[in-house]
Amino acid sequence: MPGLFLTFEGPDGAGKSTQAGKLAVALAEHHPLVVREPGGTDLGERIRDLLLHRPQGMSAVAEMYLFMAARAELLETRIKPALAAGRVVIDDRYHDSTVAYQGGGRGVAVDWPPHFPKPDLTILLALPPQDGIGRLERAGKSLDRLDAEPLEFHRGAAATYDRLVKEEPERFLRLDATAEPERIHQQVMERVRKLL
Ligand code: TYD
Repeated sequence: MPGLFLTFEGPDGAGKSTQAGKLAVALAEHHPLVVREPGGTDLGERIRDLLLHRPQGMSAVAEMYLFMAARAELLETRIKPALAAGRVVIDDRYHDSTVAYQGGGRGVAVDWPPHFPKPDLTILLALPPQDGIGRLERAGKSLDRLDAEPLEFHRGAAATYDRLVKEEPERFLRLDATAEPERIHQQVMERVRKLL
């Protein structure tokens, strides 16, 4: 597909949204489409609400399919048309999150569906799982249903991210999320410039 598909991954509290925002500003002349998952469509936002704020939870497999259903809607209605038009797309979380959290965190078998394009670049902001939750708490952010899962869940996700980087080293840029935000942004830009 033409266009440039860039995704951010990592634990909550790693600064993905900050970095996605900085990248969007730096690429403003390209008029990037900036989205975050789950969400980004009317259907997706309703699914997001079910996923993050339903106190009684749901089965692990249903959870996986809900994340993927929200993603499918976002892909079909916004991301694929933007890429087909040659645009830059910045997605704050994508299918690697499902592989990491529902796969590595919950132990569900997660495939990569053929309808989901692979990103051109995935920036992983790596942070020890306990530090991510600590950062959220210090920032006074309320924890959603997944943030509030036990540390083992977050450890499973972090280990899966590391495995994915090893499996597809050319797709991933793994950066230390504890570095200065401006330094991280420079490293992101160095790599993105080569792809533009
Ligand atoms: P996110 O929007 O990044 O959290 P916040 O806005 O609170 O920083 O993601 C919401 C939560 O959903 C986060 O805990 C990670 C989780 N998640 C999954 O478990 N699977 C997925 O496929 C995605 C996209 C997110």
